[in-house]
Amino acid sequence: MKGGWPVGGRVLLCLTVSLLLPGRGDTFTINCSGFDQYGVDPAAFQAVFDRKAFRPVLNYSNPTHVNISFTLSAILEVNAQLQLLTSFLWMNVMWDNPFISWNLEECVSLKNLTVSAENVWLPDIFIVESMDVDRAPPGLTAFVNSEGRMKYDRPVRVTSICNLDIFYFPFDQQNCTFTFSSFLYTVDSMLLGMDKEVWEITDTSRNLIQTQGEWELLGITKATPKMLVGSNVYDQIMFYVAIRRRPSLYVINLLVPSGFLIAIDALSFYLPAESENRAPFKITLLLGYNVFLLMMNDLLPASGTPLISVYFALCLSLMVVSLLETIFITYLLHLATTQPPPMPWWLHSLLLYWANPRTCCPTAPQKGNKGLNLHPAHLPGVKEPVELVGKVSGPREAELNGCPESTRAQLVDLWVQFSHMMDTLLFCLYLLFMATSVVTVIILWNT
Ligand SMILES: *[C@@H]1O[C@H](CO)[C@@H](O)[C@H](O)[C@H]1NC(C)=O
Ligand SMILES: *[C@@H]1O[C@H](CO)[C@@H](O)[C@H](O)[C@H]1NC(C)=O
Ligand SMILES: *[C@@H]1O[C@H](CO)[C@@H](O)[C@H](O)[C@H]1NC(C)=O
Ligand SMILES: *[C@@H]1O[C@H](CO)[C@@H](O)[C@H](O)[C@H]1NC(C)=O
Ligand SMILES: *[C@@H]1O[C@H](CO)[C@@H](O)[C@H](O)[C@H]1NC(C)=O
Repeated sequence: MKGGWPVGGRVLLCLTVSLLLPGRGDTFTINCSGFDQYGVDPAAFQAVFDRKAFRPVLNYSNPTHVNISFTLSAILEVNAQLQLLTSFLWMNVMWDNPFISWNLEECVSLKNLTVSAENVWLPDIFIVESMDVDRAPPGLTAFVNSEGRMKYDRPVRVTSICNLDIFYFPFDQQNCTFTFSSFLYTVDSMLLGMDKEVWEITDTSRNLIQTQGEWELLGITKATPKMLVGSNVYDQIMFYVAIRRRPSLYVINLLVPSGFLIAIDALSFYLPAESENRAPFKITLLLGYNVFLLMMNDLLPASGTPLISVYFALCLSLMVVSLLETIFITYLLHLATTQPPPMPWWLHSLLLYWANPRTCCPTAPQKGNKGLNLHPAHLPGVKEPVELVGKVSGPREAELNGCPESTRAQLVDLWVQFSHMMDTLLFCLYLLFMATSVVTVIILWNT
């Protein structure tokens, strides 16, 4: 053998190779024979399992990189009184365990393994806002591939604190935060990262939330500020989850009935003021509205003052005001028809100015000049209509002068006319106020 190696040379080569190969690869590479015959040989993994109490790194000065992602699979409850959001997440954590690896070429059939999670080290990632003890189901497993990359998924029911603002109540959006951080490891020992983009998390979550519940996922954004506690710096990833309430239930059950009642209340102004029915009708409406409010109280948030409560209070006060107006007009009409009080001169001239001159009688104020304190002749603005009417009803004037009964009838007429004008005016004011308040509330809701 010309080119054959001397025996001593072969031994030397073997020694060199075996000295070169060790290090990371050989020391912790699991023998492939352990997988073939009877499944996995526990002895092959014993070295790894024995180390589960410690952070798996070759050099303790190096931090462990942990990649985090999650899928939001349900929004279960939003409690405005306790300011809590209850949701359900699938939390995925990935990290490298350098003590597990095998040669993929030798063991072709085996790309990855599942390992019982209680046998390996797990990073202590938790959600800072969570107000509940972590109740992961027992017996979860972790995936590990041939390079020692661990993948651990677990379901978490998170009851997290969230600053809920219910001012815009049925049309509100909330922005809740999930901050993932390590309990114990500072930035020297653990760094957090993401292997997925946030939009991927948002998309999978949106596809997964199948429930047509009250809340709809709008979007997820993230921020990665470090958390400083004393002199320790912790790595953390914050996810802002924006959710929006589906308002249809509240629009149908709260806003539509309330709107109908208010519309009926406004239309009831068209009931003639003289009829006995208007006030009882309005009282019935008011009672109905109160019953409606009592029944719908359960649907409203238990705490805070949402805009919708202000809106309901506004509707209620509008109804009360319209009832007061009806009482006032009824009183005025009653007074006018039974014992009309003397009419102040300015009111009389105003009525003369506004109303059709032919229906007014200028003689009445002239007749009761002392009592009414009326001097239309000295008022430049009133002079013309008075003169006009005086010319038109000239012949009647003499007749009326001698008949106090007719003057009284005319006074009653004027008062009734005044009451109707007041009714119309107050109705217009009512409509104006109602329109402005409704428009204001709608504008506030839209912003
Ligand atoms: C690896 O497996 C082979 C058999 O395929 C065996 O001869 C060898 O001793 C094993 N080595 C270790 C370190 O278990
Ligand atoms: C561990 O890592 C640190 C910094 O990366 C280095 O200074 C130190 O020498 C390493 N220790 C060993 C035993 O490799
Ligand atoms: C595990 O390996 C199988 C193929 O053997 C592959 O389909 C699967 O995606 C792998 N799982 C993980 C978590 O890597
Ligand atoms: C974490 O994700 C980054 C990509 O964002 C990737 O380069 C890295 O290998 C991942 N690390 C682990 C432990 O999964
Ligand atoms: C949620 O709040 C955070 C911080 O307050 C902000 O950066 C983020 O843009 C908000 N998200 C939405 C959808 O408003």
